[in-house]
Amino acid sequence: MEADPPVSKRIDAHRADREPIIDVRGLCYRYPGAAQPTLRDLAFRIGEGEILGFLGPNGSGKSTTQRVLTGVLSGWSGEIRAFGESPPRLGAEFYNRIGVSFEFPNLYEKLTAEENLKLYARFFDGPTRPPSELLRELDLPVSDRRPAGQWSKGMRMRLVLARSLLNQPRLWFLDEPTTGQDPEHAVRIRELIRNRADQGTTVFLTTHNMVVAEELCDRVAFLFDGRIVALDTPQNLRLARPRGRAHVQARSEGRLELREFDLEDANEKRAFLDFVAAHQVETIHTQEPSLEQIFLDLTGRQLAAEPSGT
Ligand SMILES: Nc1ncnc2c1ncn2[C@@H]1O[C@H](COP(=O)(O)OP(=O)(O)O)[C@@H](O)[C@H]1O
Ligand SMILES: [Mg+2]
Repeated sequence: MEADPPVSKRIDAHRADREPIIDVRGLCYRYPGAAQPTLRDLAFRIGEGEILGFLGPNGSGKSTTQRVLTGVLSGWSGEIRAFGESPPRLGAEFYNRIGVSFEFPNLYEKLTAEENLKLYARFFDGPTRPPSELLRELDLPVSDRRPAGQWSKGMRMRLVLARSLLNQPRLWFLDEPTTGQDPEHAVRIRELIRNRADQGTTVFLTTHNMVVAEELCDRVAFLFDGRIVALDTPQNLRLARPRGRAHVQARSEGRLELREFDLEDANEKRAFLDFVAAHQVETIHTQEPSLEQIFLDLTGRQLAAEPSGT
């Protein structure tokens, strides 16, 4: 028997001859009664098994984009193609194929976790995964008799994630999937998402957390004020920026000095050269800009006040 070929997800995701799972062009959306549009001329594609991250500060339109793509909001303009259909037909067939995890834990608070999953499973036509398996996968207690409303916010959010996997979706929407989780659970959730994508699930993920974007996403769209201001792999986004800063560790008359220079600045560059000439250099590192720094450079805005890692 022949072994399965290795999963060449990253190559597949960018193969031009394959129809993307999601293809969006010129997407605009304005909430009824709002003075300004929330989404302005968005264009992006998501290939099969690819994780596309929408990274942007609060209020930039990430959740709105998810709501439009999942059919919660209508009245948008532009073109949306999903699973090869434009516009996507928002019937049972569509909802059987997608999983949606929301920004807030919208559960039946009076039911137990297992009851929540069993009830939700009834909405799908096809086979669904056993609740106990999903609860374990999200590190949740399997036979907890408490109503879900009594669980902590982090647990309820993980239950929403578990619920979004009931129907083994081909296309998985994740709105801020690690917000409110402790660092261990955040890591576990990132691994779970990565594993799903490696097995072919396509992921649309929104986040204001650059660790999530950087570690998890195959490509990242920077969303700012309803516009995509950059879209590429995290690596290409970094390479497109100047490798600005040099960290130098050097000795002078036996004394160790640590200095940092901005090599994009002509005066600092001269100071760097003088410093190197006058000292016995032990190490020089140039530092790649983080996605946070690149976002700041492009938009003048920080992603979030929240510490990263959540
Ligand atoms: N139901 C709504 N009605 C009117 N405006 C809304 C509604 N929901 C969100 N907005 C506005 O749309 C913008 C984008 O919101 P949202 O998509 O939630 O951003 P993000 O998820 O990036 O934080 C914000 O300015 C927000 O105030
Ligand atoms: Mg949001």
